[in-house]
Amino acid sequence: MQETLSEHTRNILGLQLPTDPRWVNLAEIQMEEILTDHAYCEQKAATTCISLIQKNPEKTLLVEELSPIVTEEWGHFRMVLSELKKRGLNLGRQRKDVYVNKLLEFQKKGGSPMERFLDQMLTMALIEARSCERFKRLSEGLDDAYMRKFYRKFMESEAGHYTLFITLAEHYVDKKAVRKRWAEWLQYEKELMNSAAVRGDRIH
Ligand SMILES: [Fe+2]
Ligand SMILES: [Fe+2]
Repeated sequence: MQETLSEHTRNILGLQLPTDPRWVNLAEIQMEEILTDHAYCEQKAATTCISLIQKNPEKTLLVEELSPIVTEEWGHFRMVLSELKKRGLNLGRQRKDVYVNKLLEFQKKGGSPMERFLDQMLTMALIEARSCERFKRLSEGLDDAYMRKFYRKFMESEAGHYTLFITLAEHYVDKKAVRKRWAEWLQYEKELMNSAAVRGDRIH
């Protein structure tokens, strides 16, 4: 499994810049912040899927495929919430999500409805891919064996999500256009990761 996912991270996820190795050490000493941030990431994944269903009711495949993802992401939120509770911690406040906001800035504001739809799918694919890569880091690099296992479960669940968003994009948009735009997104995300400070209090 580990080998397969390493290959995923290199080749299929297509991420152009691996996470700075220092990140996992910083995250380890700020687990409360990481768990709070992670909880909101899962919550936002669920609400974004709901909103995509609401905005695209005519896209039958999307509605069918994203409906169970809403349940899955909400289940993830609850798993993180119970981990916080176990530690006697509250959920905490939601932080400003710089990573996601920067990605949203790259979405085409003008353009056709199809181009806007494509960007929405690719934004989600990218967030899922990067989250999967970060969970992989945690599942391999944390000292605490229980937390390594905890994050392995999330990594395995999220691994399929990014491909689903790419698959949905390719179902509704010309495959060549998807590939071209995906390459632009990967390049943009690389620059974004490169310019951002390494912080251990957040997933991205
Ligand atoms: Fe999730
Ligand atoms: Fe996900």
